[in-house]
Amino acid sequence: MHTFLTRLNTISTFFMTVLAVCTSLCFLSTVTNPYMAKADIVPVKVVVKNLNDYATSSERTDLGIVQFDLKADVQDLFNWNVKQLFLYLTAEYQTENNAVNQVVLWDKIIQRGENTKLDLKNVNMKYYFWDDGKGLRGNENVTLTLSWNVIPNAGTLPRITGMGAKVIKFPSDYTTTRAI
Ligand SMILES: *[C@@H]1O[C@H](CO)[C@@H](O)[C@H](O)[C@H]1NC(C)=O
Repeated sequence: MHTFLTRLNTISTFFMTVLAVCTSLCFLSTVTNPYMAKADIVPVKVVVKNLNDYATSSERTDLGIVQFDLKADVQDLFNWNVKQLFLYLTAEYQTENNAVNQVVLWDKIIQRGENTKLDLKNVNMKYYFWDDGKGLRGNENVTLTLSWNVIPNAGTLPRITGMGAKVIKFPSDYTTTRAI
């Protein structure tokens, strides 16, 4: 009995070690993957409104409305250690108030095995694009970028900014129509 338990212990320790080594190798074999892909972002509609942002104050602030086409092939980002990708589209711009404003407008999770060739048309924002002042109207340098977090089975979580950022220009007049 004693030797049986000792052997069982030895065997399970052995398997734990093998498992740990495999996990490390799994991670190391993919650590040099640049996880890079090209994103093609085409603005379809870019308008700005001036509204009350009840969440932050009673002052009127700028609300950007952006609709875009997005083409990206993220197949190369998947390897055997990648469980899922978390894609997100950000808008980055400067205002008098802030040197850097960064707002997440949209995101999407792609699971392993799902379609990796994105060809999306007239995509609407998922999150509100509020400026904290009047920094969007007439702003001619708002950069849209697609980035992603790689969710691996083992190892670290790279956060990558894709290639193909797109500069959009907001009009110098507010849109007042209700329909957007
Ligand atoms: C546009 O904004 C970025 C930062 O968001 C800045 O680095 C760049 O110099 C600006 N370009 C112009 C032409 O103002």
